[in-house]
Amino acid sequence: MNPNYWYPLEWSDAVKPGDVVETRFWGQSIALYRGTDGRARAVENRCAHRQIKLTMGHVRECELVCLYHGWSYDEGGRLVDMKHDHFGKKLPVLSIRAYPVRERYGLIWGYMGEPAAAERVPLVEIEHGDGEDSWAAIRFDYTWKAHHYMVIDNLCNLTHLYVHGRWVPYDQTTLTHHSLDGDRLELNWHHTLRRDPGLYGVYKQVFGSPGSRETSETHMVYDYPYQRALSNDRIRSCNFMLPQAPDRTRVFSVQFWKAPQLPVLGRPVPRALMSKLWAPAVRPVTKEIFRQDGATVEGEQDAIMGEHFDRPIPELNPSVRLFERLTIERWQAHLDAPAHAGDAGLCTRVKRL
Ligand code: FES
Ligand SMILES: [Fe+2]
Repeated sequence: MNPNYWYPLEWSDAVKPGDVVETRFWGQSIALYRGTDGRARAVENRCAHRQIKLTMGHVRECELVCLYHGWSYDEGGRLVDMKHDHFGKKLPVLSIRAYPVRERYGLIWGYMGEPAAAERVPLVEIEHGDGEDSWAAIRFDYTWKAHHYMVIDNLCNLTHLYVHGRWVPYDQTTLTHHSLDGDRLELNWHHTLRRDPGLYGVYKQVFGSPGSRETSETHMVYDYPYQRALSNDRIRSCNFMLPQAPDRTRVFSVQFWKAPQLPVLGRPVPRALMSKLWAPAVRPVTKEIFRQDGATVEGEQDAIMGEHFDRPIPELNPSVRLFERLTIERWQAHLDAPAHAGDAGLCTRVKRL
């Protein structure tokens, strides 16, 4: 994927002060660590001495120390100390790559392009994602052995709901709108709810559209490289892909649920209570749905990158071509933009999900 964006590297709470963890972007290993001052930092995961991974080492205050001979690096990737005899020589001027880092929405984001450009590329904005009017959030992540294009196709192309059988509440699903404007793709899906005995009432309450409780609307956006699906203005599911390698993609998924009004008190269910109530109910179902998606997408990767590489793909859904086009265009833009080319190839527009 085009590196000139902020990509999620890890959940904030997975990297405590003093921790260092490994993550990857398109094959590059990254050491992500949190100093004892609480700030997260990311540097190339190699010691400039013998190239071993810095994630084998440890954090000392705000520096990362290699476990072998104790060379230490600051957040700019500069060598700042050596824990052995200097043999009468000065500290060598050496550095490794450092990545700009930010934190928001419970995620640590890294800027993978030219570091100097990071300031000009805004972080994604999620409506009701944080602050006073935020919705209750449930977080998941999954890693599939598949190319990111297959993952985005799976997230956005709901013709695949067949694979989920009765795990999703929809009977018929139709694409009612699709459009591409620059690097923002929008789709509308219209669903009728399945009349499962005993569950239909629940489906109508949770997934029914305000206008007609028997149907449901999903407004989907792929504002490259971020995806979200908004269901009836009540459930906002944001999916952030981390392309770890050409055949491996990790997805950080945050579902935001708007609290329903409490009829008795005339105000919404408190956010903390929503998270407590919904997470245990939603998590097992979502986990199973993602498992079904993952197994299928990995099967697609195996087939297409293996024996059936050359076979044509008959495709009926007209939006699929737009996803392909956007994926290829953004990658091509990265290849065409020379390094240090100012704002050429940079997206300085705020992406809103
Ligand atoms: S290999 Fe890292 S200090 Fe020697
Ligand atoms: Fe799915």
